[in-house]
Amino acid sequence: MPTILILNGPNLNLLGTREPEVYGADTLDDIVDELRSLAAERGYEVEAVQSNAEGELVDALHAARATAAGVVFNPGAYTHTSIALRDAISAVELPVVETHLSNVHAREEFRHTSMLSAVCLGVVGGFGRTSYRLALDAVISHLEP
Ligand code: DQA
Repeated sequence: MPTILILNGPNLNLLGTREPEVYGADTLDDIVDELRSLAAERGYEVEAVQSNAEGELVDALHAARATAAGVVFNPGAYTHTSIALRDAISAVELPVVETHLSNVHAREEFRHTSMLSAVCLGVVGGFGRTSYRLALDAVISHLEP
């Protein structure tokens, strides 16, 4: 079965307890479990990686070239700062959907800019855990137009 990488950046390991009024009460495991079953229904496997370290996220994108058909990526705060992640997304030539739980455009000004959106297939945000479902659907629909 082809694999979709679910990649999560800094502080997303704390989902469930981290600012639940912004990010919801679900844990990352809850979200990944749901994606795993949704993906399976469509004939895909899910691999989940979370790291708080920028370089490890770069490494995970590099590794995905050999293992994944597409990527659902919530880069956390690195969205707004990371040229290294932007270059990695460009380099790997995989369909990557930038994914956010919160509506970053309704929040602080520094969250309105993404270093990554321009090199991603598209962006989903503002729908809580539904953002991940929509992003998974977008990746699979891209792979199977
Ligand atoms: C986030 C939004 C980012 O601005 C923030 O730094 C995060 C989470 C989201 O999912 O809404 O860590 O990516």
